[in-house]
Amino acid sequence: MNKYILVTGGAGYIGSHTVVELLANGYKVVIVDNLVNSSYDAVARIEYICQQKVPFFNVDIMDYEALSQVFREYDIGGVIHFAALKAVGESTKIPLEYYTNNITGTINLVRVMKEHDVKTIVFSSSATVYGDATRFENMIPIPEECPTGPTNPYGRTKLMIEQILCDVQKADRSWRAAILRYFNPMGAHPSGLLGEDPLGIPNNLLPYLAQVAVGRREKLNVFGNDYDSHDGTPIRDYVHVVDLAKGHIAALAYLSKLESGNGLYREWNLGTGMGSTVFDVYNAFCKSIGRELPFEVVGRRDGDVLNLTARPTRANSELEWSAKLSVEQACTDLWNWTTLNPFGFQLKNYGWKIFE
Ligand code: NAD
Ligand code: WQD
Repeated sequence: MNKYILVTGGAGYIGSHTVVELLANGYKVVIVDNLVNSSYDAVARIEYICQQKVPFFNVDIMDYEALSQVFREYDIGGVIHFAALKAVGESTKIPLEYYTNNITGTINLVRVMKEHDVKTIVFSSSATVYGDATRFENMIPIPEECPTGPTNPYGRTKLMIEQILCDVQKADRSWRAAILRYFNPMGAHPSGLLGEDPLGIPNNLLPYLAQVAVGRREKLNVFGNDYDSHDGTPIRDYVHVVDLAKGHIAALAYLSKLESGNGLYREWNLGTGMGSTVFDVYNAFCKSIGRELPFEVVGRRDGDVLNLTARPTRANSELEWSAKLSVEQACTDLWNWTTLNPFGFQLKNYGWKIFE
């Protein structure tokens, strides 16, 4: 019998899509999430899509005892660790909450893993660890070797966790730690049942645009058009969330192929390698919904950088993973999710809870 993969933050945006991919690839999954930024409905919908029950624990990763109990109950072989607070702006206002939740939470998790002799972890890192890579020559698109330099507390939590995992692996070489640095996730599950559902006013471009499209926001504020790009707006590497989810399967497969007793600590960029500006994405989204959306160019947003595009050659060659889905496809899937769920998971009880 193969062991379970514990997915922390599995009710969240990227976690829920990854659980679907895990189940589709024959993995057994147990989810831990305290639902601080997600809804149990996501779990019910995963079960509906995959037509199977998925064990779920409403547990905070800060809670050592509750987490240990999950490890006692399930034979866990590895962990995919999504659980974190992730809003850049918020992290500058409540840094201690970010350091505590993300870093102390991870230390707690790793301690529990150690206690139960589980030494395989795939960690959700972020391109934000690079900060502004344009400060170096020849670092756009960004390779993993690019020096790091996050510019906000959230980004620093990601980099510190990377360093902690690196040190844990150095101290005990049998640990297997895959660091996945995501670029800009977008899109939704093609079923329209799973997608991004931010609380309050969205910080990120795509959820904001989607809310403009359904009339929840008046217009998109474009944060600056005086950057050095073809239309003056910043460049990002937008990667479909389903492609991203598949990257985790590739990372697990890679780790499982290491010879018995051999450990590893390694970072991989998960991006498409192609950059799109804010207006490129705006135009693609408007095309997919069949109408223009109101926007206004306002001043630059603090902390934004010109270009965050991945050089994903390491993931392409080592993980044999590459992004397949286009920005256009992601826009279509986002629109499908948005029209089916204009208020995200907030309107409860659609009847997905078919596995009681
Ligand atoms: P999300 O907020 O949708 O998912 C995170 C999940 O973790 C949520 O369901 C939340 O309830 C849960 N969680 C948070 N703190 C917890 C705790 N202490 N105990 C248990 N559960 C907890 O975010 P997402 O977009 O799916 O991001 C997943 C991961 O990927 C995060 O680590 C994030 O930092 C990272 N990441 C996200 C992006 C992005 O743009 N979405 C980019 C790069 C990296
Ligand atoms: C994209 C572009 C904005 C909103 C963030 C985090 C990063 C990672 C991914 C977690 C930028 C512009 C946005 C709006 C706009 N997350 N924009 N109007 O900032 O590239 O990355 O999410 O790890 O850490 O920083 O993503 O979607 O916020 O912005 O003009 O209302 O859209 O200026 O150029 P970002 P984003």
